[in-house]
Amino acid sequence: MTRSGAVWESMLDQSEQRAVTRRVRYGADYNPEQWPRAVWEEDVRLMGEAGVDLVTVGVFSWALLEPKEGLYSFDWLRDVLDLLAGAGIGVDLATPTAAPPAWLSARYLDVLPVDRTGVRYSYGSRQSICICSPTYREKVGAIVTRLVAEVGDHEAIEMWHVHNEYACHVPYCYCDHHGRAFRQWLVRRYGSLDAINQAWGTTFWSQSYTDLDQVVPPRMTAAVANPALELDYKRFCSDAFLEEFLEERAILKAARPELLLTTNFMGLYKPLDYFRWAAQVDIVSTDNYTDPATAEWQMRSAMDYDVVRGLNKKVPWMVMEQAPTRVNWRPHNVPKGPGHMRTMSYQAIARGATGVLFFQWRASRKGAEMFHSAMVSHAGTASPVWSEVVALGKELAGLEDLMSAPVEAKVAIVHSWPNWWAVESPVQPAGDLSVADQLFWVYRPLYEAGVTVDFCSPDECLDRYEAVLVPSLYLLSEPQAANLVSYVEAGGTVVVSFWSGIVDEHDAVYLGPYGGPLRPLMGCDVLDVAPIPVGETLEFQWDSGENGVGDFWADVLAERDGQVVARITRGALSGRPVVVETTYGRGRTYYVGCRLGPNALAHLFARVPALRGKTSVQPGSGVERVVRVGDDARYEFLINHSAEERKIDVAAHGLELLTGMELGSFVALKPAGVAIIRHAGIAPLRRTG
Ligand code: GAL
Repeated sequence: MTRSGAVWESMLDQSEQRAVTRRVRYGADYNPEQWPRAVWEEDVRLMGEAGVDLVTVGVFSWALLEPKEGLYSFDWLRDVLDLLAGAGIGVDLATPTAAPPAWLSARYLDVLPVDRTGVRYSYGSRQSICICSPTYREKVGAIVTRLVAEVGDHEAIEMWHVHNEYACHVPYCYCDHHGRAFRQWLVRRYGSLDAINQAWGTTFWSQSYTDLDQVVPPRMTAAVANPALELDYKRFCSDAFLEEFLEERAILKAARPELLLTTNFMGLYKPLDYFRWAAQVDIVSTDNYTDPATAEWQMRSAMDYDVVRGLNKKVPWMVMEQAPTRVNWRPHNVPKGPGHMRTMSYQAIARGATGVLFFQWRASRKGAEMFHSAMVSHAGTASPVWSEVVALGKELAGLEDLMSAPVEAKVAIVHSWPNWWAVESPVQPAGDLSVADQLFWVYRPLYEAGVTVDFCSPDECLDRYEAVLVPSLYLLSEPQAANLVSYVEAGGTVVVSFWSGIVDEHDAVYLGPYGGPLRPLMGCDVLDVAPIPVGETLEFQWDSGENGVGDFWADVLAERDGQVVARITRGALSGRPVVVETTYGRGRTYYVGCRLGPNALAHLFARVPALRGKTSVQPGSGVERVVRVGDDARYEFLINHSAEERKIDVAAHGLELLTGMELGSFVALKPAGVAIIRHAGIAPLRRTG
């Protein structure tokens, strides 16, 4: 067993409680096939210097492993694994199926995907795959089976890594294989053609199907396609990739069931329903390439990590890829600033990551990503990034005792992929409503107040949370709504925003005032909706007399059994409610009929204890705060993303783990400074009832 192999063991022992490794895993995608053997020796030596203990190998190596159909070559891979094992470096061994070799599509054209207009993609890059192609599936089965047979029992292997970023470049294929598989999927889902017609409302525009074969993928159409069909096609495509993943998984698990298995996700990525996917992995892993050139990138990155952590709350998660400094695939690739590779790695660890890996170990000389940053850049160890890499590796090696402490989150944000697919459709009242923006709208003030959130699916039990936010959950089934209603009945607090509870799982409108099965939580009637012209605002007044503004959207609300907390003061809707509070069972709800501006949202959140934040971290200060709670200590992470030094009051005296210093009542953090304060003996603040 490798040095690092022993580390995962402790994790598996505690698999029921988001168990983790004893130390943070550190490493990268390692692509030795791009280099002569002499470089491999140097790689392994430098990995030792940097404290690397886990590398992903083989992701894009199909053409080398099977240079001709049925002709295999594994000696080079065996040598790489031997070298790594000899140095005590664990391997996350990837199946090479995300980059099929040239010979495959040259001989079997149908492995290439077809776009909406009927154009077939060409070979010449990676991920040109029709996931429903029987030939692709057969060839994948063969290479994965062979991989396992040739090197599967190698001592270096600690993890299975299936494929790479499923659906990354071509999430939707519209070929005949897809058409056939879609029809089979529909029969499994609905049972009969009548049920399909019913679910899709095909009497509209004379779209009734009289034979299943008439149902085709939503290819190029003259006008907007049936939105319910589009929604099911997205469900189907996510499931089609998942089905292929499960085939690869079965081969790997049959050989080495004891190894952790993952596939790298892409955070908040629209085409795949990651809640369904995450149920099938032993460790959730994600790739994070938030653009450092965008405003609030640290916040958006934090949100991504919180989403990923919540996908499967029973298994650990890790960062499989991040850029050491810059990527090369945006039009203008700004690097991370000095120290940001470290702060962003600590952001992940604060939010529960069990490992931080990079893309990639050594910068390529050639190919599509030759100007992407790497742990070892073109300038080699002389590059400033190398000193950052080595320093971080050393520091992480010392961070053992907090790794089993879960992240403290008492607030949940509800998110669902089918909702995302349905609500961002061209048939909507506001086609520019973005789910990611809606999530960020409510996430941002909480992040700034140091309140950590979990993201939950609407199917999940929410009892452990003190407050739950429901931003624009347009598509909601009756059981999902009942889940939210019973959470409130039992004493929870929910904030529901506009455009929630509008349609059922088939994208059919719940009739009556909008809200359907969520209406008990609304306290008012949503009679109609009125998107606000871009650049204009909605003005209102709180019951306390203060004025507030919102934008983007206004519900046309009529009072019912709730208490009006804010009322519109100008324009056609003047006098109508815009925020309504209701008690329901033992709980409480707030219904919000527009997109409240930042101050107004803060005003509303101040009414809900769990949303207030009890921290000394000032909104806007650029300091990120997260707490992990162990059995005998709390770990308070403070990360200064701002360009100024910040002095932060800390919750209690404690030991700062990175410097080993005892702290009094505050800590001073330089720009890009990080503190992890261990507050020993403080009873975990877990919700008990
Ligand atoms: C990821 C991918 C890697 C590499 C990286 C570059 O999406 O998994 O293989 O391409 O991006 O940023």
